[in-house]
Amino acid sequence: MSSEKTSLGANVFLYPMPVVLVGALVDGKANFMTVGWVSRVNFKPALMAIAINHAHHTARGITETEAFSVNIPGADMIEAVDYCGLVSGRGTDKSSLFDVFYGSGGKAPMIVQCPLNIECRLHQTVDLPTNHLFIGEIVDAWAEPRFLKDGHPDIQAMSPFVLTMPDNVYWGIGERLARAWSVGKKLKGA
Ligand SMILES: Cc1cc2nc3c(=O)[nH]c(=O)nc-3n(C[C@H](O)[C@H](O)[C@H](O)COP(=O)(O)O)c2cc1C
Repeated sequence: MSSEKTSLGANVFLYPMPVVLVGALVDGKANFMTVGWVSRVNFKPALMAIAINHAHHTARGITETEAFSVNIPGADMIEAVDYCGLVSGRGTDKSSLFDVFYGSGGKAPMIVQCPLNIECRLHQTVDLPTNHLFIGEIVDAWAEPRFLKDGHPDIQAMSPFVLTMPDNVYWGIGERLARAWSVGKKLKGA
């Protein structure tokens, strides 16, 4: 243990966290909630995991329909994104906040205004003490050409934003630093 470091206890988070809108049908109505606890967790099949509190309206929808979407919003959507994290679909209709479309599964509402939409079918649920870890298999993903570069999502065009907790702040993304799986090569065999 370094004598220079201060213990922060166990309640720490990743720095930064992504910010996405998770879509699900609840009682037949599209609902969207803000989520920071999300990650790709398997290569093949392509699996995406989200950690959703048991109490959330979205959790019931995903359990019942076995489908959800992960939508990556742009910074221009920041107010609507925060709103979706402040109010529950249990008491407030969030279905008309965005233009909605569906993929081949037909059960995961997705947001037209988000630069990237990922449709998932529920693969597995891991019940943790406060959260369901919903693991979804990616069925397909969509983006408009203006958000793509060389056929892949272009982070600069998408302009996503990230989250820090516990200060609860949204941040823009920074500058390009280096090419991954490449910049470290110069240390190989060093
Ligand atoms: C920035 C932000 C990130 C959030 N991340 C999560 C999360 O990862 N998991 C979670 O269960 N709730 C998270 N929440 C809280 C839910 O989005 C919030 O409780 C929402 O109202 C639930 O909506 P629902 O009841 O319609 O499903 C987050 C809220 C905000 C503002």
